[in-house]
This record gives sequence, structure tokens and C-alpha cells, in this order.
Amino acid sequence: LVAYSLLIRNCGQLLTLAGGPAGRPLAGADLANWLVLENAFVACENSRIVALGPMHELNESLVTAATRVLDAQGQVVMPGLVECHTHLVFAGNRAPEFQRKLQGESYLDILASGGGILSTVRATRAAAEAELLANARHHLQGFRRYGVTTVEAKSGYGLDKDTELRLVRVARQAGQQEAMRVVPTFLGAHVVAPEYQGRPAAYLDFLVEQVLPALQGEAEFVDIFCEQGAFSVPDARRYLQRAQELGFGLKIHAEQLHDLGGCAMAAELGAASVDHCDYLNPADAARVAATGQTVAVLLPLVPLFLRQEQYAPGRELIAQGVPVAVSTDFNPGSCPSKNLWLALSMACLKMGFTPKEAIAAGTLNAAWALNLAAEIGSLEVGKQADILVLNVPDYQEIPYWLGENPVRHVVVAGQVQVV
Ligand code: NIG
Ligand code: FE
Repeated sequence: LVAYSLLIRNCGQLLTLAGGPAGRPLAGADLANWLVLENAFVACENSRIVALGPMHELNESLVTAATRVLDAQGQVVMPGLVECHTHLVFAGNRAPEFQRKLQGESYLDILASGGGILSTVRATRAAAEAELLANARHHLQGFRRYGVTTVEAKSGYGLDKDTELRLVRVARQAGQQEAMRVVPTFLGAHVVAPEYQGRPAAYLDFLVEQVLPALQGEAEFVDIFCEQGAFSVPDARRYLQRAQELGFGLKIHAEQLHDLGGCAMAAELGAASVDHCDYLNPADAARVAATGQTVAVLLPLVPLFLRQEQYAPGRELIAQGVPVAVSTDFNPGSCPSKNLWLALSMACLKMGFTPKEAIAAGTLNAAWALNLAAEIGSLEVGKQADILVLNVPDYQEIPYWLGENPVRHVVVAGQVQVV
């Protein structure tokens, strides 16, 4: 037995997220059935959790002068938040379009007029790699202050080979330079590139033939935006199948603004997640649930920011047995917020989650959406020591203090961060 490198003691509530079924994401009643330990400790050796339990079981002989000790002072301790859907790397911002939106223009109207995603594409293509990296690191630092210890990062503001490869590379480098796990996703299929206007299938062929081979080992997932004004379900199916043959995990943006059937299609291909789901119908939700593996990633700050007011049917999805996660969707167009705590509050207020369900949706199930549940998302012996000490004594207060940041200490891979 080796001395602990880090001990967090006097945890009023230790939210373990453990105790659910093995081998699949939390669904139905399991979403709220995980274990909360009272008056507990959690101990680490280097980057790993090696012990946890009630305070009276703490082996004091492993606490030495070399052990860093954090006293949680009776407050909540929980796993680091897992942010499983962001568009991290971009240049510029869309504050001018915020004004247009406030005057009543819709997201898809702004896109069809050459703005929206395409305006960020112009700014991103023109930016130097060093500027993109500095932006990405700035946003990762912001996420870490909110207690986020893993961030998925999509490309998708290049839409040409060089820029898209640059965005994936920048995401990786940002993760190496910050104390943060970054999971790169290739979203070259965000919208049709201006150079291929009116020829979506030809653009997807170009991505498969010329870009995806250069990303093997660089991007974990391939994602596509399935929507009017972006890509159709048949085109998305063909594209995702080809990405799967090349060894990528699959994700999809679907049922955000219309019910086209993208979620069920992607789930049946074995996608790790189907994201947005605001217009997902019950029959298709049942097809997602039937997989037992595909996570529905719900993004409640997006309908808020787009003034769309159609929120994914969270309560119904949980009742149907769909495993759900919650994320911000951080990006310059539909959610310029990195406040995942606010997203969890909105999942309660607008989608019918309980506080306990929302916490699972922002930790363990979000880890499942990244195929990382064996490594992160819960406090269990052997997992990476990504741990938060909060400044609330009861987890019910987490979604209650609307818009606040309840984080006191952030531990990434066993190291206490200065945030
Ligand atoms: O997830 N829906 C498509 N993509 C992003 C928004 C990207 C943007 O507007 O820049 C989303 O909402
Ligand atoms: Fe998105």
C-alpha cells in the first residue's frame, strides 16, 4: 500500500454516480438510483482514485506528510462535469446576428442569407492557427472554472480540407496544453461548403475521400448536421456508414428544428449519441431506446438562445428508457455559454429532470456519449481522479442556484487546479 497523494475528507455528500448497471448508460429509474455517501472521503494516488467510503473507514496510516489534504467542510463532492458537445474552435463571434435574432429573424433564415455558421466559417478560415489555439485555450480555461474536466470539441467552421484539419489539430493541442481532456470530433459535414453549394452529396464524397483518411487516429468521432438547409437523412446515413467503415465513432445533430428522422437512423447505425432531439417523436425515441447504448444529448440552452421554445421531451425520453445526457452545445451561434450548471438547471425547468437525474446527465451519461465511461464520469476506484469540491451542502441546491457556479476546487487527474 502506497501513501495517498491526495485526500478529500469531510465530504458532506459524496456523489459517486456509482451503483448502476454495468456496461450501459443510465436509463429510466437508474438515472436517479446512484449512490450518495454521507460524511465520506475520497483518496487518490497520482491520477487515479484508489479509495473512497465513509470517514470512519479512512486508513489514516496512508495519509502522510506527502499527502495533499482538501477538507470539503461538509459540502458536496462529485465527479468533474463532462461536457460532451461543443464547437470549441472558432474565430470571431456573432453578436451582430444576436441583434437580428432579437428583431425576429430565425436561425435558418440567417443561415440561408449567408450568415450564421457561414459567417463563422469566413472568420475561422481567415484566422491564424495561433489565434485559434489561443481562443480554444481561453474557452477551456472558462470551462474548467465551471468544473468541467472533459470537453468534446467539434470542427466544422472550416469546410475545406486544410482548415478542417487545422481545427482538429488545434483541439488536440489545446487539450495537451491545458489540464483538461479534449475529445476531438470531425464535423466537416456541418453545412455544405460554399464551394459545393447545391451539391451536398459531392461535398460529402469529398470529405470521405480526401479528409477522413487524414483524421484516422486524430478525431474520435464523425458528426453531421441533419437539418433543412444542411444535410438530408439519406445523405447523412450514407456518410455515417462510410465514416464507420473507416473506424470512427458516430454522432449526429438531429431533430433540432424539424423532425426528419435523423436520430433513429443514427442510433440504428450504432451512434454513440444523437444530439439536440427537440423534435424527436415518441416512435423514434423508442427506436433510440431499443439500442440500449445510444445516448440522447439534450441541449436546453439552445432553444433558449434561439428563442425557439421547443425543448426536447426529457421527461418522456427518460420514461421511455432513452439514456439522456445534458450539454451546453457551446458555440458562437446557438449557445455562447459555457455554463453547464445553467444547462442542468434548464434541463430541470424546461425538460422535467429531477436534480439527481440532471447530475447524472452531466457526468456519467455524458461520459457514455464519448465512449469514456470506463475512465471518467463517476467516483469509483480505478477511475481517473477528476473531482469537484462544491460550495453547497446538498446536491438539491446544485440546479437551484440558477446561473451560479458552485465550484470551490477542481481536481484534474489527481492534481488540484488553480481556477
Ligand atoms: O449545434 N446546429 C448546428 N450547429 C450548431 C450551431 C453552430 C453555429 O450556429 O455556429 C448547433 O446548434
Ligand atoms: Fe452542436
